[in-house]
Amino acid sequence: MWNLKDKKAVITGGTKGIGRATVLEFLSLGAEVIFTARSEKNVKAFESELQKENYKAYGLVSDVSEETGIEAIVLEVQKRWDTLDILVNNAGINIRKNALDYSEEEISKVIAINMTAPFELSRKLHPFLQKPGKATIINVASVSGSLDTNTGSPYGMSKAGLVMQTKNLAAEWAKDGIRVNAMSPWFTQTPLTQELLAIEERMEPIIKHTPLGRVARAEEMANIIAFLAMDKSSYITGQNILADGGISITAI
Ligand SMILES: NC(=O)c1ccc[n+]([C@@H]2O[C@H](COP(=O)([O-])OP(=O)(O)OC[C@H]3O[C@@H](n4cnc5c(N)ncnc54)[C@H](OP(=O)(O)O)[C@@H]3O)[C@@H](O)[C@H]2O)c1
Repeated sequence: MWNLKDKKAVITGGTKGIGRATVLEFLSLGAEVIFTARSEKNVKAFESELQKENYKAYGLVSDVSEETGIEAIVLEVQKRWDTLDILVNNAGINIRKNALDYSEEEISKVIAINMTAPFELSRKLHPFLQKPGKATIINVASVSGSLDTNTGSPYGMSKAGLVMQTKNLAAEWAKDGIRVNAMSPWFTQTPLTQELLAIEERMEPIIKHTPLGRVARAEEMANIIAFLAMDKSSYITGQNILADGGISITAI
């Protein structure tokens, strides 16, 4: 069971960073994957790269903050498989500002992509996830959903909401054979954080206070998502795994 052989998985935000690493990890463990993102160019490029390796990987252009984007994913699952073992709600964004500087539109956008879209996608895919009798949803949250990380209130609010969503759905859908867990990364090297990680004076105290003394690689996040997706984690549900280099256990 230390594999994902023949499992059918949807991964949102699969062209870059943690999502991309998760697509690669899932495929190498034997899964079939539908991955999504907004940029058609990136989706097509990654899909052809993967298909050249003979992986069963299917790219789909979809904006998860739009109703039509969610519908497109549901139709793709219906068309290809009509059943689903794994949903990874990974797509996420951040707009970093002081609380007083946000427009209403910016607040809504962050909440829509990071919190509402996972809820809508999980609900719409529930009929397919119910079919195998043992399916899993993994929500990619953030340490910012548990602690203040000085990275913008709407982001932290959206991720805290995603963690609570995880607990609610885990309790409600256990009877349907669906486990629901969250994975909360600390700073991870991806395009999302590329600019921030390059600011030495901002990163120095962060790295100093992180017990493991470094930021994470996207592959380290993908490993945890893969474990939560496997039958090997069959007794874990409703949890939020902090993959944080130990930052949450220290006050100094
Ligand atoms: N990196 C970190 O340090 C860190 C820390 C904590 C939590 N996280 C969380 O981890 C997840 C992945 O982050 P990352 O760092 O890998 O981000 P990233 O490098 O920016 O990649 C994000 C992916 O999501 C896609 N995406 C963004 N908005 C989308 C939308 N509305 N609909 C569909 N796809 C969308 C992007 O492609 P397009 O732009 O083409 O749509 C891309 O494939 C996010 O939920 C993030 O909040 C990251």
